[in-house]
Amino acid sequence: MKQITIAANWKMYLDESSSVDLIDKLNAEKELFLNKDIIIFPSHTCIRSVKDHLDIDLKIGMQDCDIHNKGAFTGSSSISSIDIHSCIVGHSERRIIYKEGNDVIAEKLGAVLASKADPILCIGETLEEKNDNLTESIINSQLSILPKDLKGRNLTVAYEPVWAIGSGDVPSNEYIHQMLSYIKNRLKSLYSDTDLENIKLFYGGSVDADNLNNLIGVELIDGFLIGSASANFEKFKDIVKQLKL
Ligand code: PGA
Repeated sequence: MKQITIAANWKMYLDESSSVDLIDKLNAEKELFLNKDIIIFPSHTCIRSVKDHLDIDLKIGMQDCDIHNKGAFTGSSSISSIDIHSCIVGHSERRIIYKEGNDVIAEKLGAVLASKADPILCIGETLEEKNDNLTESIINSQLSILPKDLKGRNLTVAYEPVWAIGSGDVPSNEYIHQMLSYIKNRLKSLYSDTDLENIKLFYGGSVDADNLNNLIGVELIDGFLIGSASANFEKFKDIVKQLKL
């Protein structure tokens, strides 16, 4: 049985004291979280405190990063500013709210791949695009920024239909399977079998303890990118309890 990854995207839900509070609760029940593949994505400003308070060896990531590594970029955060395991790029909230297009996301992906961190590239269609039968062409365009050669690097593609994020409207397993198969086939046309072994597929969008068990039934899913339910300790605990490995 493969090990399912849980990527906890705290977005901007938790300030420093709430982040530490969640970590304290997690430490108090650490047996549950040991030997699970969990990556926590705090706000940039809370990463240091989360790292300092964690009593167990969970992975920590960044929710986004700048395209630059260093320099006069007021208010931004570099991928190399702190030691982290992975970095999300192309989240739909960055694409839509901050108007990040494929060109910027490609540069961010490049910045992550040039660092030690593993990238998680988020892709997915809006409801309008879905209704206009544009899902596959949107996915193709969002995947078009992938490098020709992964050079042995790990990559995660997180399929997150925008209409499923924060809405409680989770697609059927059949729909997710169909989309992940499509994505996998695109990746197969780009990469060698060796590269494909380093690529994981995640699903994200309204995942919680009530639907996780059913979603794990989608064979192509290697992990989940979870937003609001991951930023609440009780809900997060209920999710992690369902992991067999
Ligand atoms: P959600 O967010 O779990 O709150 O729907 C998922 C995401 O945006 O990654």
